[in-house]
Amino acid sequence: MRIADVDVMDLKKKYGTPLYIYDIDHLKKNMDGYLNYFKSNDFDTEVLYASKAFSVKEVLRIAKEKGMSLDCVSLGELYTAKKVEFDFSKIYFHGNNKTREELEFAIGNNVGIIVVDNFMELEAIEDIANNKKKNVNIIIRINSGVSAHTHKFIVTSHIDSKFGVLYKSEEYNKMLELIANSNFIKFKGFHSHIGSQIFDLEAFRAALVKLIGYAKDFSEPLILNIGGGFGVRYTSEDSPIPFDVVSQTLINTAHEELAKENLKIQKLCIEPGRSIVAECGYTLYEIGYIKKTPNKMYYFIDGGMTDNIRPALYQAKYDADIIGKENEPKVNKVTVAGKCCESGDLIIEDIMLPEAKSGDLLITYTTGAYGYSMSSNYNKALTPAVVFVEGGKDKLAVKRQTLDELLEREI
Ligand code: LLP
Repeated sequence: MRIADVDVMDLKKKYGTPLYIYDIDHLKKNMDGYLNYFKSNDFDTEVLYASKAFSVKEVLRIAKEKGMSLDCVSLGELYTAKKVEFDFSKIYFHGNNKTREELEFAIGNNVGIIVVDNFMELEAIEDIANNKKKNVNIIIRINSGVSAHTHKFIVTSHIDSKFGVLYKSEEYNKMLELIANSNFIKFKGFHSHIGSQIFDLEAFRAALVKLIGYAKDFSEPLILNIGGGFGVRYTSEDSPIPFDVVSQTLINTAHEELAKENLKIQKLCIEPGRSIVAECGYTLYEIGYIKKTPNKMYYFIDGGMTDNIRPALYQAKYDADIIGKENEPKVNKVTVAGKCCESGDLIIEDIMLPEAKSGDLLITYTTGAYGYSMSSNYNKALTPAVVFVEGGKDKLAVKRQTLDELLEREI
């Protein structure tokens, strides 16, 4: 098997397993796809990469080179961006409980926009802005009431979400009052994010229509950010919508709705994470032991929930192949299990795979989002290396953790 024209066996020899592999040709195509299609003649557009999906310096360098903007949600993500000299004016800083330290860092580094979640956060920003005598651009995160879970969406649900404020609620009104009386806080617009791994474009359209409705209260053209959440293909059960269709649908919805309302906006933003990095990512494992129980057959791999928590946490499904046996008959119904001391440490349950032997390599697909970024050292597992492959060449993006690094913070 080759990824971006690099032999996977060579990667195994060079970097060992488990190994995260990213096809950078594919990654760049995804970034370009959004950047090229998410455009309008009527208003500015901005595509933010939601770095929580996979935040390492090397991927941020690519995002920067492509001219993308960035969504950061913590001091750690801001700091990673700082280390690659990402233009902070292109960063939107998110989070429902930003600490004083985080806000000071963001404002001190002239972050482009703070996406404010609640009234108390706004008070903290006002205090910092006053102390620093510095203008701070903010948008308000709105709970639009649209919530989407994969194939379904519901309006007027989820009013108690921990994220955002409800339009015209007491909290919302207090925020607008504070903004009106502030010298340094500059209100720029609204943000809404309705969920993740969503396939139903109607849900995004519904949220966008709501935001445009809220923007009618203001005379100046606002920034509307409709978040991320565009679904990807993990298995054949998933049918994601291509980014040109997603982009054009959202832009067209905005055009139609703005014309109907006779309204102008300054900018429309989206912040995809998963749909940029998920399908470019693969995880390579070595099969250790194979075991049969009365009703099951297990292929044990040298990683598991420590490098991919998603199956255990969300019952997420994945596809896999045995390297070199992609075209062999899939004769065994197996469960691919990790090496953690947890019975829930199963990466794939009941998948048909060819006969395998110890030492074979197993690859899982679509592991590029929320895999490395949610990895852990449970059972003192070492975080795998991350390698980028592009045009027949490989490049180490993150070194494999060593045992000494694992203990380096322990007294
Ligand atoms: N914007 C905001 C405000 C978000 O909260 C998120 C994701 C995104 C953008 C990017 O969403 P995406 O395009 O990646 O779906 N750990 C979960 C996903 C959590 C998503 C959290 N927020 C998973 O592995 O499925």
